[in-house]
Amino acid sequence: MSVSIAVPKESASGETRVAMVPKIASKLTKLNVALTIEKDAGAGSRIPNEAYGDNVTLTENADDIFGADVVLAVNAPDADRIKKMKKGSVLISFIQAHNNPDILEALKTNHVTSFAMELVPRITRAQSMDALSSQASAAGYKAALMAASALERFLPMLTTAAGTIRPAKVLVIGAGVAGLQAIATSKRLGAKVFAYDVRTDTKEQVESLGANFLMAEGVKAEAEGGYARELTDEEKSKQQQMLADNMADADAVITTAAVPGKPAPKIISKAMVEAMKPGSVLIDLGASGGGNCELTKPDEIVTHGSVTIHGPSNVPAQLAEHASEMYAQNVLNFLQLILVEEEGPDEGQSQNENKAADKPGQKQYKLDIDWEDEILAKAVLTRDGELVNESVKKLLEANA
Ligand SMILES: NC(=O)c1ccc[n+]([C@@H]2O[C@H](COP(=O)([O-])OP(=O)(O)OC[C@H]3O[C@@H](n4cnc5c(N)ncnc54)[C@H](O)[C@@H]3O)[C@@H](O)[C@H]2O)c1
Repeated sequence: MSVSIAVPKESASGETRVAMVPKIASKLTKLNVALTIEKDAGAGSRIPNEAYGDNVTLTENADDIFGADVVLAVNAPDADRIKKMKKGSVLISFIQAHNNPDILEALKTNHVTSFAMELVPRITRAQSMDALSSQASAAGYKAALMAASALERFLPMLTTAAGTIRPAKVLVIGAGVAGLQAIATSKRLGAKVFAYDVRTDTKEQVESLGANFLMAEGVKAEAEGGYARELTDEEKSKQQQMLADNMADADAVITTAAVPGKPAPKIISKAMVEAMKPGSVLIDLGASGGGNCELTKPDEIVTHGSVTIHGPSNVPAQLAEHASEMYAQNVLNFLQLILVEEEGPDEGQSQNENKAADKPGQKQYKLDIDWEDEILAKAVLTRDGELVNESVKKLLEANA
């Protein structure tokens, strides 16, 4: 029997993305798997039901979705939906277990084998599955556009008959994937861009985009896996002094700083905002983790004095078409690690070993998880009723 794969409509409020787009659905159905998609799952990404094609089953019945061998989603389904999943079935989605204890519990109780997209290791072989990066790129790009749109000023230098306009100064804090995309987009719009990150090895990447790298004397916080570590109090105060000086003449500040598994580092104080120029804007991509600025309120625009602080919590959802397209490709690439071609029947195969290949669509695929594969071993969250991911276990212990 062919493997059944299903994709629900996302239920989180404000979520417009979907884990399956027509191009990927057609690649999957060519693998002869049974693909079921919840009706209107693509609506938020402007994908009408019929665009998925005739080889896909559309359903309104949640049991058809959650009874599948594999469920693909952007965000983990809620606990009630996970309880509908079969023992031994597979979930592939962002899960963020340390923030979602009910979901983790339901995955364990129901013996779901869950893979968390945020746990996919950032090794070269897994680059095509790196959904953190694809979604962060969307967020960084959009953040620069939000800043441009919120400002009542031009970003580029303009020389006109009505005079010369100086380019706006954009300061990007955090030069990871989102930050680099925000830098590149602000540069393309003509702004003068400055950037800062605690990982000083981002200097080269920042400069290669034509931006200026800012240094805080004596602050260097590279940690395991290329991520940042939390700063000491002394480091924080050095960093804040340097940033306060640079924020005071910035037109827009875009913050993207994050430390995996921790709340967003609080980098920008109320006093630093109060020292900003009238009419300047701050786009805080750390909003979903509590914000990089102490005045940020998730999903609100706060006006403090004459500075506006935007705290969008799900920016990729504002670029749903492309964010879904990239996410669906990441998920397909991951799924292909566990979808393995089944040996054909012995009888009648001897005449033409490649008979199956001659007739695309006749191959059969089964689920086969190679636990020796580094990507699968690191991305797995729960298996056989247990939380098996060491990094999440450590995080939960540290946060307990
Ligand atoms: N396949 C790959 O090899 C691959 C793919 C993507 C990313 N990466 C690497 O992963 C790392 C993290 O990328 P990410 O974008 O997911 O990071 P992230 O979202 O975890 O953090 C964003 C940025 O915030 C910075 N930051 C944290 N605390 C800060 C503070 N107090 N002040 C200023 N900046 C602070 C981090 O250094 C990081 O650059 C990077 O080294 C990146 O190059 C590797």
